[in-house]
Amino acid sequence: MKKTDLLMIPGPTPLPDAVRLVLSSPGIGHRSADFKEILKRVFPALRWIFQCKNEVFLYTASGTGAMEAAIVNTLNAGDLVLVLVNGVFSQRWADIAKTLGVEVECLTVEPGQAITPEQLRAKITAHKGAPIKSVMMTHSETSTSVLSPLKELAAVSRELLPEALIIADTVTSLGAAPFQFDAWDLDIAVSGSQKGFMLPPGLSFLAYSDRAWKAHKACKNPGFYFNFSKYLKAQVEFTTPYTPGTNLITGLDVALSLMQEEGLDNLTARHRQLQEMTRAGLSAMGLELFVPKFEEASPSVTAFLPPKGITVDAVRGELKKTYGIVIADGQKELKGRIMRIGHLGAVSEREVLTVLSSLEASMIKLGAPIQVGKAIPAAIASASKEKVGAHA
Ligand SMILES: Cc1ncc(COP(=O)(O)O)c(C=O)c1O
Repeated sequence: MKKTDLLMIPGPTPLPDAVRLVLSSPGIGHRSADFKEILKRVFPALRWIFQCKNEVFLYTASGTGAMEAAIVNTLNAGDLVLVLVNGVFSQRWADIAKTLGVEVECLTVEPGQAITPEQLRAKITAHKGAPIKSVMMTHSETSTSVLSPLKELAAVSRELLPEALIIADTVTSLGAAPFQFDAWDLDIAVSGSQKGFMLPPGLSFLAYSDRAWKAHKACKNPGFYFNFSKYLKAQVEFTTPYTPGTNLITGLDVALSLMQEEGLDNLTARHRQLQEMTRAGLSAMGLELFVPKFEEASPSVTAFLPPKGITVDAVRGELKKTYGIVIADGQKELKGRIMRIGHLGAVSEREVLTVLSSLEASMIKLGAPIQVGKAIPAAIASASKEKVGAHA
């Protein structure tokens, strides 16, 4: 019997039933009074999840669209930016900026490492030449499962470069890791629907500060489709400048209400707990975690190495074929070297225990040299007594 696959990749994430139901609704006019009512709930809820006072722009585009929007709206060709690079997605900031004619300086560390405030301090202090107009960083680097200390990095940037815009990718951290846009004095943060928002891909979100708004107003060519001014003008009237992804937005309305019902503290505690369980289970099996330090590891995804003599393809293939579970390969130079288990969005202890036990079964079938019978007890023991991760 063919069953639906269990998606344990770091996005797209599984969809809650309530979201799936509304996504299949027959359709709604984007200029209708009913849709306006939805936006009246969605816009404040987005401000809640970002913890910010200004509007959060709602784009019908994947996360990369919001990344491009951040740059095109606030920077000019020839400006210099500093990009903190520790993987595929942080590198994307540099790639987009260069494409738009922005000059890029990188602070690069090895994939699997977090970028520390001390490294950023040293880099900025040593910088000579043109002023740095923006510091761009990635909270959860999905390609390696690293969480960088965004709050502390932003504080160093603000202290040493008070005028520079702090632009953050929170694509796989929002809704999973503690995050406060206004309190951390960020200028732009972006995220996407197929991650902690428990939706299919297709929407992205952008929070901005007054400082970013000023930069937008001074920007020589802030573009057309993603133009901040067009979105603000529309959003204060509870509408959108162009035809938005209407069904996705009806899903977003439901997803945000599920997130609000759970509450920010419980959301982050649940993701931390699922991360701890995953890490404990993998370690007990004798598998090597790609990010050894818990404090540097993302609460939304865990990367690990295959055991000696066993390929990533073989493990992922067995998981998919026999158990209907999908986990992610590494990306770019880490393809075939690591595997990644997503534990983001609508996941609970049930999914984590399922992926761990199925992974163990796959390893046994492949003859992998692992510790048998240890993963589940270790995962259960690591789950906190407070059952925030219980299946609802
Ligand atoms: C950290 C991070 N940034 C950016 C992106 C790009 O988002 P999208 O694929 O939605 O364009 C992703 C996608 O996985 C991501 O994980």
